[in-house]
Amino acid sequence: MAGMIPQPFIDDLLNRINIVDLISSRVPLKRSGGGYKACCPFHKEKTPSFNVVPDKQFYHCFGCGAHGDAISFLREFENQSFNDAVEELARLAGVEVPKDEAVKQQFDASQRLISALAFAADFYEQQLHQSPLRDHAQQYLRNRGLSSEIIDTYKLGFAPPDKNNLAPHCSSDRLNALVETKIVSNRYDRPFDLFQNRIMFPIRNPRGKTIAFGGRTLGNDKAKYINSPESSVFHKSNEIYGLYEAYQANRHIEKLLVVEGYMDVVALAQFGITYAVATLGTATNQDNLNSLLRHCNHIIFCFDGDQAGLNAAQKAMHNCLPLAQDGVQIQFLLLPEGEDPDTLVRKEGQQQFEKRITEARPLSSFFFDVHCEGLNLDIPEHKGLLKKRAEPEIELIASQTIKAGIKEQLRSLTNSFFNRQKKQPFQKNDARRQPKESGYYKKAPPPVTVKRKPDISVCLALYFYPDKAAAFNTHIQQNSITAQFPSTLNFANYILNHEINTNKALLISIATNSENRNYFYTLFDDIEFIPLAEDALQEAHDTLHKAAQEKRRDALLEKSHSQPLSNEEKEELRALSTWGEKATQ
Ligand code: UTP
Ligand code: MN
Repeated sequence: MAGMIPQPFIDDLLNRINIVDLISSRVPLKRSGGGYKACCPFHKEKTPSFNVVPDKQFYHCFGCGAHGDAISFLREFENQSFNDAVEELARLAGVEVPKDEAVKQQFDASQRLISALAFAADFYEQQLHQSPLRDHAQQYLRNRGLSSEIIDTYKLGFAPPDKNNLAPHCSSDRLNALVETKIVSNRYDRPFDLFQNRIMFPIRNPRGKTIAFGGRTLGNDKAKYINSPESSVFHKSNEIYGLYEAYQANRHIEKLLVVEGYMDVVALAQFGITYAVATLGTATNQDNLNSLLRHCNHIIFCFDGDQAGLNAAQKAMHNCLPLAQDGVQIQFLLLPEGEDPDTLVRKEGQQQFEKRITEARPLSSFFFDVHCEGLNLDIPEHKGLLKKRAEPEIELIASQTIKAGIKEQLRSLTNSFFNRQKKQPFQKNDARRQPKESGYYKKAPPPVTVKRKPDISVCLALYFYPDKAAAFNTHIQQNSITAQFPSTLNFANYILNHEINTNKALLISIATNSENRNYFYTLFDDIEFIPLAEDALQEAHDTLHKAAQEKRRDALLEKSHSQPLSNEEKEELRALSTWGEKATQ
């Protein structure tokens, strides 16, 4: 769809918008030199490193590398799609976005459904306060411990126990739209509501538009929950319940806790855990996972402490393996028997529950929890079983680093000579539920330190974090250290020219073009050990910082040969020199 809006229109639109006005209406900006500064809205910081440059009409954060124009700002800050961002800028500029007929029709059609669903969400919300039967619904919510604030935040509602609630309040066009969303059926001689006698949970997309509902029965209905069927605006496996509300509560989402139920999300939020979401389907599939990872690269899966929860956790883990890239952090939290997040957080409160989240098992440990289940690793045959179970799964793992770590652990677990530790057969209620210090899984592979050429080590960080290209480029230029970082500059320019923002996009760009591939083929030849992404980044920061310091020291020394230095310069040189000694010792 993005490509459907003509580029000249977009260029013209960007010329009509002042990015300073756009950003300052959302983030307080302070004038600084020829531009503006603020604390970055895209990461946590105390001193402002977010810059808005009016001349060039872009923003750039030296802290996190966030970078872009008015469109990317809206996309990132407001979570808008490309098209929505263009629509909003066009509204601000007072111009109409040209669209071809097909796109326009599709757009209008989904607007019709979205508007009908908004009507339904308002209706259900109103019924909770106005229906003659509201007491029944309100009593239920009170019994479940929900506060009125949380009911408002999640816009919970009530579908009264009638077959036909919505239609009498709609025009025929709106009714048709509701039929298309499948929350009203017209298969009978009268319209027939899908949701009757239920507490209603509107499912909102990240932009806050209701696209479907979940409904919990207030009676003894066999189906405890029912959900809207798929429609042109609701694709179950791409949508995440609670994400919009999480964004409302947190400007920056650092982690997402994925739970099983609507009630769990709402209860956790009420207790201050505002980053819980639920996927909408039975098991967590790869589409769910991809959607989650688009919003956040740290995900904790939380499962109820029953057999169903354990099975779901194993499925989720299996599906995670191909998506666990470097930089992605996935953890698993299994709750005690018989508890779900709703019951547990009400029992033990936010702090205890968050402690569980912090201690949740990393993928690389949970992997062995699952595959060692029922095995006694003192028995050689069981070692063989473990190997057989685990090896094909290991091959699925995307991250070379995680893969190498797990392989290493598997080797030490199945190698009879080195395996001195006793491992009891896995039992319910032990390590998996209460992570303890003991056990094989605590053993991490030894850290490896390898000296890399500074230029290449910075390239390596760019490989993991292509979104740092602009920041690194600027740093190198500003500190006049271009001669030391030719490959980095090359690589950064490649990334910027191709507008690559993620490691995945970079891989695709290199993998799908043989010319690009040849160009980078030898770049990392001398690297023997691939570090963790964050370590590579730390190393690159250190390398760039050190190079800039040395450059400055050399410049001052050079200057001191031809003219006397000021006191300040002398002081600076002294600081730089002792720093240099320390660093090279
Ligand atoms: P649970 O059965 O664990 O219910 O379903 P719950 O979340 O604890 O709900 P309460 O506390 O009894 O109200 C978890 C999720 O599975 C889906 C729903 O999305 C629900 O939130 N589900 C469950 C259904 O779709 N249909 C059902 O009949 C039951
Ligand atoms: Mn429950």
